[in-house]
Amino acid sequence: MRSQGILSSFGVLAALAATVGAQGVADLYARCGGEGWTGPTLCPDGAYCMVLNQWWSSCQPVPVTACPSFGPYIDPNSQTDGLNSFAVRRGKYFGTAGDWVYANVMNCTWSQIATDPSEFGVLTTGNSQKWDTTEATQGVFNFDAADQFVAWGLKYGKKFRGHTLVWYNQLPAWVTGGTWNATTLTTVLQNHITTEVTHFKGKMMHWDVVNEPFNEDGTYRSNIWYQIIGPDYIPIALRAAAAADPAAKLYINEYNVEGVNPKSTALLNLFKSLKAAGVPIHGLGIQGHLIVGQVPTDMPANFNRFVAAGADIAITELDIRMNVPPVNQTASFAQQAADYATVAYACKVTGRCQGITIWDISDKNSWIPGVFAGQGDALPWDVNYQKKPAYYGLATTLKP
Ligand SMILES: *[C@@H]1O[C@H](CO)[C@@H](O)[C@H](O)[C@H]1NC(C)=O
Ligand SMILES: *[C@@H]1O[C@H](CO)[C@@H](O)[C@H](O)[C@H]1NC(C)=O
Ligand SMILES: *[C@@H]1O[C@H](CO)[C@@H](O)[C@H](O)[C@H]1NC(C)=O
Repeated sequence: MRSQGILSSFGVLAALAATVGAQGVADLYARCGGEGWTGPTLCPDGAYCMVLNQWWSSCQPVPVTACPSFGPYIDPNSQTDGLNSFAVRRGKYFGTAGDWVYANVMNCTWSQIATDPSEFGVLTTGNSQKWDTTEATQGVFNFDAADQFVAWGLKYGKKFRGHTLVWYNQLPAWVTGGTWNATTLTTVLQNHITTEVTHFKGKMMHWDVVNEPFNEDGTYRSNIWYQIIGPDYIPIALRAAAAADPAAKLYINEYNVEGVNPKSTALLNLFKSLKAAGVPIHGLGIQGHLIVGQVPTDMPANFNRFVAAGADIAITELDIRMNVPPVNQTASFAQQAADYATVAYACKVTGRCQGITIWDISDKNSWIPGVFAGQGDALPWDVNYQKKPAYYGLATTLKP
């Protein structure tokens, strides 16, 4: 039996498989995970559980051939062109999200672009460090998929943003359906964070410790952590992460906080109160899931108030979507280029903006069409991995 990752180390996993074997083994190509899934999470020999998105994972054959090697690491400072080269020359980085399946299974063109040091210096795991993958069964940890991706990235000189330790989503049923009180759930939370952050110690430059804690009106999202533990779940999580890897910079990550609004104000106030209480917190992650033609104009002002409170910031999940197919692609792509430039400019003029991560590389692999019906074309590379005007909007803005 195989566990959820690829290339599992047999001895360890044989023991784990024995522990969780009672859940059964899914058939090849059958579902083995995703939000709400309570069926088998193991795959047969020669297959692994591939995370397609937060709702769906299925047993896929372990690929016989991985992508080729894409050449040695090259210092991005020595490169003349590319989003990361430009960002590095400004003391920042440019990154993307992905996973082992992107890097070595889905499409080798993805790997070729992702490994290019002039384009990307930092990688974020898309799914493989989330709770449903790393602790699908209580106390049984599986870091195989993330380990593979991290090892692959390190080979190409990438740095990593860890993503994410406490979130309301992509939680296994044993967490959401458990009977907890504040004491028992706090122990579960601390154990998860301590184990995961210790496992990746020294390899994650940032951790998105807490993801999406707020509602749009700035009140706390009523997730299981908040319901059972209260708002203290946030400092508890940050303290556990800091204890496990004191060198990692710890972030709270949130969407719809690009401009000044009730949600971004709540995030700012939370940061201030954590700082005042001596809680280890370094940065605020601005996700940047935006819509063409609707990018907030007050991003620099908003970022400035985060920085004034002592926060590093990072754009962590940038994509700018449109209705597809666009009525006039030329016009929509031009507007999208201007919108990407607007975001890049906001990071450029904010000294403590560490860098920008786009949420995947090309329109071929984006999560957008699967979640926002009728929308897409959100990324700087198109479905054929060709650069769109959006790429040049970023490049011309970041170029020193
Ligand atoms: C929480 O639950 C545990 C296990 O059921 C129990 O031992 C403990 O007394 C409870 N704590 C509180 C504060 O209710
Ligand atoms: C599409 O937009 C471009 C750029 O705004 C414009 O020049 C062109 O005339 C438009 N095409 C149509 C068919 O409307
Ligand atoms: C990756 O996708 C591109 C664009 O669709 C295609 O041209 C290429 O053949 C694919 N490569 C692999 C290895 O599947």
